[in-house]
Amino acid sequence: MEKEPSSSNTNRPPDGVPIAIFASGAGSNAQQIINYFKNDPTISIALIVSNKPEAGVLKIAGEEAIPSLIIEKEAFFRGDGYVKELQNRNIEWIILAGFLWKIPLSLIKAFPGKIINIHPALLPKYGGKGMYGHFVHEAVIAAGEKESGITIHFVDEQYDHGQSIFQSTCSVDQEDTAESLAKKVQTLEHRHYPEVIEKLIKKTQI
Ligand code: GRF
Repeated sequence: MEKEPSSSNTNRPPDGVPIAIFASGAGSNAQQIINYFKNDPTISIALIVSNKPEAGVLKIAGEEAIPSLIIEKEAFFRGDGYVKELQNRNIEWIILAGFLWKIPLSLIKAFPGKIINIHPALLPKYGGKGMYGHFVHEAVIAAGEKESGITIHFVDEQYDHGQSIFQSTCSVDQEDTAESLAKKVQTLEHRHYPEVIEKLIKKTQI
C-alpha cells in the first residue's frame, strides 16, 4: 500500500520541499544555503527572489541554474506580495538572507510560521528599521558591547521582531572595527544558517 505523504502539500515535486530565498545583496548566505542543500533530496532551493536587478544573488542564481524572480515595490506592498507567483511554484518556506524590504502582511498570512530571517546581531538589541549591514556593527561597537552574534528568527509584521529560533555569539574585542566584526558575524551566519533551516524544516514537516 502506498504511504500518504507526510505533508499537506501533495503537489510537492520529487526533489524535496521547495524553498525560496529572498535577498537584496551579495548573496553569500544564499550561496552557503544552496551549497548545503545541493545533495539533499528532501529540501530544494526552488527560487531566488530579489528586489534589486543588480544584486549579486541573481548572478549566483544564474550560475546555479536556479529560477529567479525580480519583484517590484508597488506589486509587493500594494498588491498581494507575490503570493500567487510563490504558490504557483509550490514554495513552502521563505528564507530571508539579507532582504531589505519589510515583508507585507499578505505574505506573512499566506506562509504562517514559514518565513525566517537572519540578523547580524543579538536581537532584540540592534534591530529595527535602518539596522542592517555596517550600521549594526557600528552601533554594537559604539555601545561598547563585549559580545555580538547572530539571531535567526521567525518573521512577523515588524522589522527584526518575530520569535527567536537560534542565536550564536562572538566576542567584540577592543581592536574590532565594524569591518572585522562583520567578518566574525558572517562566519557564524555561514556556519549556522543552513543547519538551522534544515533542522526547522525537517522537524516541522518531513
Ligand atoms: C547578512 O549579514 C544577514 O545577517 C543580513 O544581511 C546580510 C546578507 O549578507 N540580514 P549576504 O548578502 O548573504 O552576503
